[in-house]
This record gives sequence, structure tokens and C-alpha cells, in this order.
Amino acid sequence: MPDVTFRLNGDEVTVRYEDGMHLLELLREECGITSPKDGCAPQGSCGCCTVLLDGKPILACLQKPENVAGRDLVTLEGLPESERRLLAESFVREGAVQCGYCTPGILIRTKSLIDRGRTHDRDAVTKALSGHLCRCTGYRRIVQAIEAAGEAARSGAGGNRDTGGHGVGDSAPRYRGIETALGESDFVADMTVERMMHGAIVLSDHARARIRSIDPSPAEAMPGVSRVFTAADVTGERSVGLVVTDWPVFVAVGEETRCVGDMLALVVADTMFNARRAAASVIVDYEPLPSVTDPEAALATGAPEIHPGGNLLEVCGFVRGDVDAALAGAAHVVSQRFETQRIEHAYLEPEACLAVPDARRLHIYTQGQGVHDDQRQIARVLGVQPEAITVELVPNGGAFGGKEDLSIQAQTALAAHALGVPVRTILTREQSIRLHPKRHPIRLDYTAGVDADGKLVAVRARIVGDTGAYASVGAKVLERAAGHSCGPYRAPNVDVEAKTVYTNNPPSGAMRGFGANQAAFGIEGVMDMLAEKAELDGYEIRDRNILAPGDRFATGQIMGQSCRGIRRSLEAVKDAYRSERYAGIACGIKNTGIGNGLDDSGRVLLRVGDDGSLTILTGYTEMGQGLFTVLRQIVSEETGLDPERMAVRTVSELSVLCGMTTASRATALGGKAAQVAARKLASDLAGGDPRGLAGREYHGEYVCDFTVKPGTQVENPVTHLTFGYATQVVILDDAGRLSRVVAAHDVGRAINPTLCSGQIEGAVHMGLGYALSEDLPCTGGMPDSLLLRDLGILKAKDTPEIDVILIEEPDEYGGYGVKGVGEIGLVPTAGAVASALHAFDGKRRFRLPMTDAPAAAPSVPRVRK
Ligand code: FES
Repeated sequence: MPDVTFRLNGDEVTVRYEDGMHLLELLREECGITSPKDGCAPQGSCGCCTVLLDGKPILACLQKPENVAGRDLVTLEGLPESERRLLAESFVREGAVQCGYCTPGILIRTKSLIDRGRTHDRDAVTKALSGHLCRCTGYRRIVQAIEAAGEAARSGAGGNRDTGGHGVGDSAPRYRGIETALGESDFVADMTVERMMHGAIVLSDHARARIRSIDPSPAEAMPGVSRVFTAADVTGERSVGLVVTDWPVFVAVGEETRCVGDMLALVVADTMFNARRAAASVIVDYEPLPSVTDPEAALATGAPEIHPGGNLLEVCGFVRGDVDAALAGAAHVVSQRFETQRIEHAYLEPEACLAVPDARRLHIYTQGQGVHDDQRQIARVLGVQPEAITVELVPNGGAFGGKEDLSIQAQTALAAHALGVPVRTILTREQSIRLHPKRHPIRLDYTAGVDADGKLVAVRARIVGDTGAYASVGAKVLERAAGHSCGPYRAPNVDVEAKTVYTNNPPSGAMRGFGANQAAFGIEGVMDMLAEKAELDGYEIRDRNILAPGDRFATGQIMGQSCRGIRRSLEAVKDAYRSERYAGIACGIKNTGIGNGLDDSGRVLLRVGDDGSLTILTGYTEMGQGLFTVLRQIVSEETGLDPERMAVRTVSELSVLCGMTTASRATALGGKAAQVAARKLASDLAGGDPRGLAGREYHGEYVCDFTVKPGTQVENPVTHLTFGYATQVVILDDAGRLSRVVAAHDVGRAINPTLCSGQIEGAVHMGLGYALSEDLPCTGGMPDSLLLRDLGILKAKDTPEIDVILIEEPDEYGGYGVKGVGEIGLVPTAGAVASALHAFDGKRRFRLPMTDAPAAAPSVPRVRK
């Protein structure tokens, strides 16, 4: 093995490494330096691994170790403490840290900009950020934080300005924000334990093929390899799934694969490098079979059957009134097909899992979105009781729905259980793209009509979604698309049907918006077409049709008083829309809570420590949205206790069972449970010292059990606990390029206005990419590119100003009046962009992404075969 000698954070080190290792792997795996994160190594696309080499920022994953010989390498760990504080505090103060996976790399970039005196130059800052991706923030706050850090460095001020409060409604600083910004707060891939082994996976080369044989012997003969696991090693059930157990954790010899994310083997070795190298040597003999990759072809007679029950997973539909009669009497009718694309979540933290066995239990450290669902499914695969497994969340580097399904938790647990040693598995970016579920490509055929006053009389929608190889939560996504197919508009006659179809494409599942985005693109386009026919502008037709209390949502649910927020959001953007030449407008509605007949619950346990400290236990996931911060604010609000004495953990204890962190529900439901628990604690505390309550526990719970499935024949079919509402205006400049977005959102109550606005800004950024550039085209079920840079994610320089207007129309159910905000930020965005583009060039666009538009960022490469 060669070695290299260089100065690392001021100390001369000599490090041995394997031929083929890149510098990032050497730093992380051999030197224990974890502030540079691995988001896409060795693609060099995300910027998470930025370090300083002889004072200049470079991407560690693109460097060979020998390139640093005799040179000076600095990471965040090596900066003076005063500089580290200045950088981190500037980012936390400006709300520029969400999941934080991108932040250490951007802090190093900021240090370089400060050293060069360029932080006051907005163009230089956005240009410098071109080497970085952030999937959470929308960049605006990052740019502000860089400018603030530069100013603090110049003035010598610095310091973490107190925001003035830590209760409900205060912009309290993010919990563990400083540690996260500095890369000190572990992600799963940063964790190491004694005797830890490393897993690496083998995926199918073909979307559909029969596995003739798997020969692990070449891998078993390689250095450091302990064992190769395949389907034959599964001790319990081999299939998992959140709704339908149709997803094998390993495909067995003799079986057919269904997508290129199918797992065939897990190689366990002494190092990550050895495990991955050995995994590449496993020999698989395939019999390739014809794949079916179009949902309509999958439904045709004679199509290959992907699952034993056929390719039609589910049909969801409902009818209200008489659509045919209403359309026959309508003054204006439009019919149009809308098509939306598959996109990738592109959270910057690839999937990772650490499984640690001890004498009694198996501890799983996960980055998934539901510790209890992970626990249940892992136990099923191992053939043990769920109580034999503890799952603890390590706050993750973004998820957006893509970490609801198991990825490699079950396989890693299986290996650790069998070998009796800790095993950690980390996916590469390429594997992550192949494996986890995507946003559904959906075709929506609409026919809708208005009367002479421009009021909707009927909507008919026929919706077909490509759910790929496995069910995941696909049928629920299509249910949601159906339910949201009329948007936030009053439609007296409705006829909707949505089909969920298996194909051999990568699975589709949950992604921020969960079917509502696709439906919004359709119905908002329909509203604009009807407006044109009725000779109304985009504002006026929405004003005449927007839901009011007592009106029925598409599913028939009668809207409560809190739906006044949708009108308030519409009126909030009226001037912005009407005062601009090239402006587009769209409204959005998004359910809070899963609903549709399933219980929604929030549970929280407060545990008082001997020293009077508090541990807040929840089952919901922190994935950058700020849940842990708002839970502390709520407990502080109710008890008067300082949040600094509170820690928050997500664990699979039964007392906090609440299911997935999904459907924009964690703050509304978890917050309500925290409120209940904290009031009990406050009652016992009575203003005294919490040390007097050492050892006590306080439980809080809220369960919504009153929803029904769409189509249920009752007077008021309440399909959802509540909804969030928004109206957005997209403004283009004279060249037709993005200039500004005004996003008015009714959030019910902003527990933390800075974090709340940050959620919306990040979602709008994601929505603009969805509208204009993001895509994951596949050929024969294989993505045309597995590179992060080809996904079409907008960079900082492509992102316009985003003005957020927070509206607080309290909800009847959510804690403190909260409505969900996690997803709705991008529900109306694509429709508003399409509307703005029509204002600019008179062309209507019905297909995403709208890459032909001048607003589509030319700097984003797109791959087409
Ligand atoms: Fe930037 Fe999450 S905060 S990727």
C-alpha cells in the first residue's frame, strides 16, 4: 500500500491508502476527518467535500491522495475556533442551515471568500456557490449568511445575536445548528464503533431478467472480506413494503428482477473500500427479459406481468353530481392532457445504516423517515420480534419522502445479526439513484367547464401514474392526486379516477407534495385555459372559484372556517400579479396528515433527568425541517423552561408510536402531542425546579381518527385532518427569465417564522426545478444518467428572489392552529411558472419540465438518449 505525507490541519501526517482511493475517502475513513461530507463521490457535483488545499477550495473526491503530498490541507476541524464560530453562527442566525449536509462544504467556501474579500460582491458569491448544491434552502439565506459572515469578519463583531425568544412564534436558533454547520453533528456515515465492518451492495444490471446464478466466490477471495449475503441468508420473510409487502430485500436465484435497484447481494468486509471493491467482483448470470416501462403498455393485454396480481396496483375514484349534464350546459369547456416527469429527491446525504448488536438487542441507527416502520420491517426480515430491535434516528441529510421505504437497513441488520459485529453500509450516489423511489410520472386528462360568469360547473379527470417496480406508497400518491385534482376550487360536479400502474422503471413513491403537485399542474393549467375562454385574467377566475368555508373539496369534504386562508393567500399576491407584465399565478392546497381513512397520531414523551434536564422523545423524523427545534419551543412555551436544558431524540419506543414523518404532519400532530405532555409537566412543576421531578415521565398524545376514504358515501366525507394553502406568483424579466417569486402561504401558525419561511423558500426552489429543468429519464428502466449534475437541479445563480408572505389563519385541530408546510411550498409552483411563460410568449405548456422556455436555466445540462 502506498502512503502520502502532508500537513493536515497544521500537523504533518503520513497516511497509508489503497490504490484507487480518492482523497475524501482517505480523509474520512483513514484520518477520521468527517466535516467534509460525501454526497456524490467521485462525481464532484455537490460540493459537500470542499476543503482548502494550500488555501484554495478544492473538492476532495476529485483528488488522488498523492496530489496532496507535501501540501497544506485544511478542513473545518483545523480552523481557529473564533473563525469556526463566526462562520457557523452567521449561518444559523440567517436560517441558512436546514439538514446541514451541504453546510460544512459551503462554510469552507465562505472562508475562502472572506480571505479574498469577496463576500460583499453578490455575483461573486453566487458564482462561488456554483460548485455547491443545497437541496433544502433555496440558497437565498445561504447568500445572506455568507454576506453576514463577511461583514462580521470585517467588523470583528460576530456573535450569535439572540433572536429574543424561544417560545411559540419566536425565530429561535436551530437546535444543534452550530454543530451541524461545523460538520460535528454525526450523520450515519460519520459514525464508527469498535469492531465495525462495512457492507457494500450488488444491484441488478437489468430492469427485468431472470437470475440464473450468483457467484460470490471472487468476492469472498478478496482482501478483508468476511461474508457475502444473498437471499438464501434471509432468516425471516424476504419481502417488505410500507403498504404492500412486494419488495424483496434480495432477489433470489431463479427469480426475476423488476428494476435496476433490485438488490442481489451484500458484501461485508473490514473496510468500505474493500467491501465496495469486492462487491464489484460478484458474478451474476442473467437471462435478460423484455421490460415494460410505460404504464399504458403495462396495462395492455399480453404485457409482461410484473407482479402476480397483474400490473394494475389500484384504482381510486369518486363521483359527485352529474358531470356530463353540467358540461353540456357549460358556457366554456376545455379538454387537455398534462404530463409530468419522474424526478429524483437528490437529498445530499445518500442512504446509510449502522447496525450494532449486543447481547440482548440489535441497535439500528437509521436516517429513515419512520423508526417504527423500520423496526417492524427489519424484524420481519430477521424473523424476530420487533422488541428485539431498537431503531434510533440519526437526523438525516434531507429526505423529502425518499427515505420512507427501507433502503439498506434490513440487509445491514441481517449481516450484523448473523456476524455478531457492527456493520455499516453506505450507498454511493449512483446506487441511491437506482434504488430509492422517485416522484411519480403522471398523465392527467382533464375536461372541465365554467358557466358564463367563469364559475366551475364540472371537472372530470382521468389520471394514470407510473409507480415503477414496487408498490411503496404509490397507490396513496395517486389517491392524493385524485383528491387534489380540483385544487382549492369549488367544483359542484366531479368525476375522478386514478390508476396506479406497475412498470419496470425505478419505483415511484413519496416525494414532497405526494401527487398534489402533479394535480396542481393540471388543474391550474385548466383554470388558465378556462380564464382565457371566459375573458378573465388569472386572478379573477381564481377569485370566483376559490374555496370558502362550507364549500366542498373535490372529495366532498366540507371545508371548515380555517380554509379562509386560501382566499387570504390569493388576495395577498393580487398586486404582485397585476402589476407585472410577465407574471403567472397559481394556487395550491395540500393535505396535512395522511387521512383517507387511516389514523394520524402524534405522541411525545418527556423524560426528566436527575439534573433537571429534559429529554423529548418522539417518533417523528428530523430531516432538516426543524422539527426538533419547534418541539423544544413548544415545551419551553408551556413550561417556561430553558430549551437549552432539553435534548430531542427519535426512537422506536412504543410510547411514541406515530408512523412515518409524512404528509406535512409532524409539526401539527407531534407539536400537539408535545403541548399535551408539556402541560402535564407544567402542572407538576408549578414554577418549581425540575430536579424535583427527576425520573418522572409525561406522555402526550393526539389521534385523528375521523377521516374516511375518498368515495365514502356519507354527508361529509372528511378525508383529511386539515390542509395548508398557498398562492404563488412567478415573475419573469423582459428576457423571459425568472426574476422573482412571491409565495403567500397560510401556515395556520408559524411556530418558528424563520424555519417556516426557510421551508417554503426551499420548496419553491425545488418547484422551479420541477417546472423547468429537473428530470430523470430512463431507458429500459435504467436512468439515462446516474450523475447528480444531470438531474437539472437549479444552482444559486439560477434561483430568483423568493418573497415569502406568511399568513396565519388558525387551524381547528393542529397544535396552536398549525397547518402543514413541509410540502405545499412547491405545489403551486409549476403551474405559476407555466402561467408566467404563457404571459411572456403566448404559448401554453402541458408537459414538465418546460425545458423549451427561456426561463429554463441554460447552465443545467440535461441528458437525453
Ligand atoms: Fe443544504 Fe440540506 S441544508 S442540503
